[in-house]
Amino acid sequence: MRHLLSIEDLDRAAIERICDRAASFSEVAEREIKKVPALRGRTVLNLFYEASTRTRSSFELAAKRLSADVVNFAVSGSSVEKGESLKDTVLTLGAHRPDAIVIRTPWAGAAALVTHWTDAAIVNAGDGKHEHPTQALLDVHTLRRRLGGIDGADIWIVGDVLHSRVARSNILAFQTMGAKVTVCGPPTLIPRGIEALGCDVRYDLGELSQADVVYALRMQHERMDQAWVPSLREYAALFQVNGRRLHPRQVLMHPGPVNRGVELSGEVVDSPQALIAQQVEAGVVVRMAVLYEVLAGARAGGPTDDAGPPRDRASHPAGVA
Ligand code: NCD
Repeated sequence: MRHLLSIEDLDRAAIERICDRAASFSEVAEREIKKVPALRGRTVLNLFYEASTRTRSSFELAAKRLSADVVNFAVSGSSVEKGESLKDTVLTLGAHRPDAIVIRTPWAGAAALVTHWTDAAIVNAGDGKHEHPTQALLDVHTLRRRLGGIDGADIWIVGDVLHSRVARSNILAFQTMGAKVTVCGPPTLIPRGIEALGCDVRYDLGELSQADVVYALRMQHERMDQAWVPSLREYAALFQVNGRRLHPRQVLMHPGPVNRGVELSGEVVDSPQALIAQQVEAGVVVRMAVLYEVLAGARAGGPTDDAGPPRDRASHPAGVA
């Protein structure tokens, strides 16, 4: 795999391979020294044009745990504020010869565009409303661990589907893994024609009890140029996932950041049914697996050497950092 731009680039076998490798990396997080030498001497550039807590910190940690050198580039404080374009920024930073660029921008398609301006492997960490493939992978990984598998699971994605790149990537990934996906929200926040992706659509929570997994989305104010719901209070009255609506057998997911009291009530966020902390934890190992895949993947599965993930190195203890 040269780049990771869209979840559409991955078939079921590729998703499973990445999740299996992520599982093999979870052992690294248990060590006192949380590092393996897999990407020693490689440089990973994190280029973030949008706010991020989880995604940026987990990509940074993932690269560092694989022993790569990491450069974090945040737009605030950079020459972007002086008018430098995305292309010129990429060309300038390209002079540092990054092996991989992890990029988040508010522009759909920007990650794909950047592949034309650099030789580095590009990993899409969110491009506008379009896609967020590593979020989908970490959610698949989290569900496989919790449910044992996703085949046949009934997954409801509830909330602002229209402005959500997570929804798009997750619908595709969950279905590729054999789940049945239903999207639910007010008609103004469900894109017209979304059924074409293969999911069902509901405009109320009446049948939520049929779901095995409830995946709630944040109201994406920053992408709204008008009022899409009469008020947040009204939205919450009709669509908030709370203790009354969440059945004890269901598990709850959310990509974060959560707006407590809007899409989720505080009680369900803090309940043992919520997998939100597990999703964040999965973010590090899944991003380790993705960086490994784009930077060392060609060698993966080949003869073991000290660049392999822990499982490959079982017979090569010298490779353990
Ligand atoms: C999401 C994003 O930025 O797309 N957050 C994340 O990466 N975990 C979802 C959101 O902002 O609501």
